[in-house]
Amino acid sequence: MAPVTSIQDLRAIAKRKVPRAIFHYADRGSYDEATLRANKADLAAIGLRQRVMIDVSERSTATTLIGEKVALPLAIAPTGLTGLFHGDGEIHGCRAAQAAGIPFTLSTMSICSIEDVAGAVDKPFWFQLYVMRDRKFSESLIERAKAAKCSALVLTLDLQIQGQRHMDIKNGLSVPPRLTLANALDIATKPHWIASVLMGKRHSFGNLAVRKESDSLSTLSQWIAGQFDPSLSWKDVEWVRSLWPGKLILKGVLDVEDAKIAAATGVDAIVVSNHGGRQLDGAISSIKALPRIVDAIGGGTSEVWFDGGVQSGQDILKARALGARGCMMGKAFLWSLAAGGQAGVAKAIEIMRRELDVSMALTGTKDIEQVDRSVLEL
Ligand code: GLV
Repeated sequence: MAPVTSIQDLRAIAKRKVPRAIFHYADRGSYDEATLRANKADLAAIGLRQRVMIDVSERSTATTLIGEKVALPLAIAPTGLTGLFHGDGEIHGCRAAQAAGIPFTLSTMSICSIEDVAGAVDKPFWFQLYVMRDRKFSESLIERAKAAKCSALVLTLDLQIQGQRHMDIKNGLSVPPRLTLANALDIATKPHWIASVLMGKRHSFGNLAVRKESDSLSTLSQWIAGQFDPSLSWKDVEWVRSLWPGKLILKGVLDVEDAKIAAATGVDAIVVSNHGGRQLDGAISSIKALPRIVDAIGGGTSEVWFDGGVQSGQDILKARALGARGCMMGKAFLWSLAAGGQAGVAKAIEIMRRELDVSMALTGTKDIEQVDRSVLEL
């Protein structure tokens, strides 16, 4: 087999290994997928400035993110259903991230619970919170994240209501996955997934008490519509703040006005994101929004982060050059996990670290801390 040299190689392996419905959940976006495509196209359109004859023999990609030392400015984004891409996927992902020296974020919609992951890793991880209709339940999730000694809470702002993902509906994506006449043949051709996920012990949302009757009737999109709260507002951010005294990150800001309100809350970081093109189709790409938001709130108390199409070290370099302190990777994480479990995720992080390191060198940059807009052809 040809060696794996890029994130796209890992995606191709993932496509072969997991059922179509699972692969599409990670791979596809909402409605016509214009925003999904724009995330990647707009990143690709940014040029890097080649510089030569600068001594780059000593280089460093190490930095800090919300005060934590990291090997490169990258974190694993919270991704739902992670444990359906590989058995115990959240544990594999967290271990790989911690070994590589980057943060791991566990999603509210994970398959392994907060406690499962906390019991399997040595260092603190981050927990992502969706505020659900049932506020008491949301409060209990915050308490559980505290008890598990999570070192940051990532509050997602951009999924009060779900953007329709056609493929999830067409595939009848459900949690736990259901074997149907329509998907039986597809699943039968995925023996690795059957052994790793289907024969594994966790198949449903580990953090959530899903009622049996709704569970058996609903697809994922119906379930989300029932649980997620369209009435969320900035008041709820204050409410979360009052319950969580630790590091707080707000994820899912794309607009300058929203970024100003988010920054006024004094949180540790704000993640510029359109939820990977999975929510408002027609929204601008994250990379287009990034410099506008950096110009409006950069240099304040909140770090500005970037999420949306990060699939190479060059992408990280471009985002950092446009003022992002850190980047999050979602799809690239899930592909690598599906492709090879913990080793697959380790491979993905190493691929991106090397790409970042080499690309920095070829722009004449020795230290990630020196990266600014001057490395770009604007
Ligand atoms: C959930 O966060 C999703 O994007 O499916």
